[in-house]
Amino acid sequence: MKCAIIYSSMTGNTKLLADGVYRQLDELVPIYTVKDKIDLDAYDTLCLGYWIKKGGCDKATKKLWDNIHDKKIVLFGTMGVNPDSEVGQQQVEKIERLLADRNQILGHFVCSGKMEAEQLALCKEKVAASLDNPPAIQAQLDNADYAANHPDKMDILELQRLIHEVLKR
Ligand SMILES: Cc1cc2nc3c(=O)[nH]c(=O)nc-3n(C[C@H](O)[C@H](O)[C@H](O)COP(=O)(O)O)c2cc1C
Repeated sequence: MKCAIIYSSMTGNTKLLADGVYRQLDELVPIYTVKDKIDLDAYDTLCLGYWIKKGGCDKATKKLWDNIHDKKIVLFGTMGVNPDSEVGQQQVEKIERLLADRNQILGHFVCSGKMEAEQLALCKEKVAASLDNPPAIQAQLDNADYAANHPDKMDILELQRLIHEVLKR
């Protein structure tokens, strides 16, 4: 198995997960951000980390993922909403649709990720002004107290267990 970790993280939440994956893989695999220059042909298995931006992934992630095909993939991501909520599930499905038709998804771990005060204030403004998708944005506000403590040690352990289970490492 030729494996690499590639992640995107704006405020550090998904990086915490990516570092956990790196440790689980005995620090023996390359770890990149989506903005790095990566020879995708060198790998058959990718651990891909993302964060949810406006219901999908950020632009740099989309650009890279559009070039990913015929790989075994373990996805891991963070989001402001509760991943088990309706909005959370829709976001998870949207992410998988970006890769699933031409790759094999071995597993997908997702957890809440804390949001910065500035972003929460923006969410409040948008809900008040009925901008974007107010129910989806409200869902971020509703989960903010819970998300404030995530990803935590248990999230990282759960992800490491998934990696162990699907990659046998
Ligand atoms: C500009 C912006 C847009 C966001 N949009 C969403 C969203 O649509 N849905 C959601 O669940 N979380 C949203 N979030 C919350 C982030 O997904 C969450 O805080 C994530 O853990 C950030 O990951 P990072 O620290 O790795 O950048 C948004 C955050 C920012 C900054």
